[in-house]
Amino acid sequence: MRLRIAVQKSGRLSEDSLELLKKCGITFSHSKDRLFCFGRTFPLDLLFVRDDDIPQLLAENACQLAIVGQNTMREFQLSSHHDIPVQRLAELDFGHCRLSIAVPESFAWKGAGSLRGKRIATSYPAILGDFLASRGIEATCVRLSGSVEVAPQLGTADLIADLVSTGATLRANQLLEVETIMEVRAALYRNTRDFPADGEQLVDKLLRRIDGVQQAAESKYVMLHAPRAAIAKITALLPGAESPTILPLEGHGDRVAMHAVCREGVFWDHIEELRAAGASAVLVLPVEKMLA
Ligand code: PRP
Ligand code: ZN
Repeated sequence: MRLRIAVQKSGRLSEDSLELLKKCGITFSHSKDRLFCFGRTFPLDLLFVRDDDIPQLLAENACQLAIVGQNTMREFQLSSHHDIPVQRLAELDFGHCRLSIAVPESFAWKGAGSLRGKRIATSYPAILGDFLASRGIEATCVRLSGSVEVAPQLGTADLIADLVSTGATLRANQLLEVETIMEVRAALYRNTRDFPADGEQLVDKLLRRIDGVQQAAESKYVMLHAPRAAIAKITALLPGAESPTILPLEGHGDRVAMHAVCREGVFWDHIEELRAAGASAVLVLPVEKMLA
């Protein structure tokens, strides 16, 4: 039994999607120009497609799993007339952006009411329509599949609703972000209707690995020397580490070595606070994998 997972062929999620699967220990016999790749170390095969096609492929069981932006999936769900057999399994730590309303610099924005009667260019007419309806606003959606940002300059729309990540595209087109419609990140989805029974175990295994990879990415292993009297204070300064390992230091009765896994990342200001509390020889190491 093998499962198939769809990922974006080229775009903002492609590299991170492949990187995540790789960190989960899945290697593919692969050339990215081919549509299909065989999973060598896990019974999971890859399907490279356009992100906009992924929800449909998943709903039709052309693949049983998919990594896609929550915006793309939500647009598909809102534009279908019936429930689609798709379930979100996990939110992923990449593809962070937001779907926002942006207006030309000369536009007098006074809140969502300013949208009334306007022409709004977007690639997400269903999400935008849902947003407008929830506020009782009537406006015209101008559906564009790309280059949404230029619509106001071309005079085909008054303002836009589009994805914003760094904001560089908006700035380049003299647009101001004024309201967020939806926070977005990538997610892992599954088909729920035609899922093979013996695929469940495989999915559980994959989910555990993804969880381990994502937890490890945030975690650091910290080692330091500390005055015995400062153990409690220093433990409190280690983010997310409730029970550190305490080891004696040969020849120094008053000092100990402390080892701990910190689950929130350890930043420079944490390290300085640790030093101020009497810690020395501070080492912060990356954690590669974690199993709870
Ligand atoms: C989105 C969006 C903007 C750009 C914004 O396109 O349509 O063009 O990203 O990013 P920025 O704020 O960092 O400038 P995307 O790359 O997702 O391509 P697509 O719409 O063609 O799929
Ligand atoms: Zn796209």
